[in-house]
Amino acid sequence: MRDGSEPIVWNESLVTGVAIIDEQHQILVNMFNEANHRLTESSGRSVLEEIVRDLMSYALYHFDTEEDLMVEKGYDQQGREAHFREHRSFSAKISGLQQDLGQGKLISREELLSFLNGWLLNHILNTDQRLGKFLKQTAA
Ligand SMILES: [Fe+2]
Repeated sequence: MRDGSEPIVWNESLVTGVAIIDEQHQILVNMFNEANHRLTESSGRSVLEEIVRDLMSYALYHFDTEEDLMVEKGYDQQGREAHFREHRSFSAKISGLQQDLGQGKLISREELLSFLNGWLLNHILNTDQRLGKFLKQTAA
């Protein structure tokens, strides 16, 4: 698992070339960096809950944008299903964390940040890049 202690530096390799997707990804990366900055090993439940809630709500909004584009532009079924699955697995993990927090079980800074860092980079660099390539081809 990746170490989540470093901020994510926005760079060319993250750019899909689809403006709406890139804008939203930059917001997600900024949210990650802000969480990285705010969280300490002794962060309490309310800060963790707030960070997780904000990330979840923006991620869901972003997933809807991508999923609508996939359906609208006729992305192949296999790619769509694999992509949707990754979105669902992110949501499932985050809602599990929300449940834990709701029951008073704190998560460590490292656990949360490593998950977010690993998921975001892996998803953007692979799954979203593949989608971006398709969307650019269909737009041309
Ligand atoms: Fe995606």
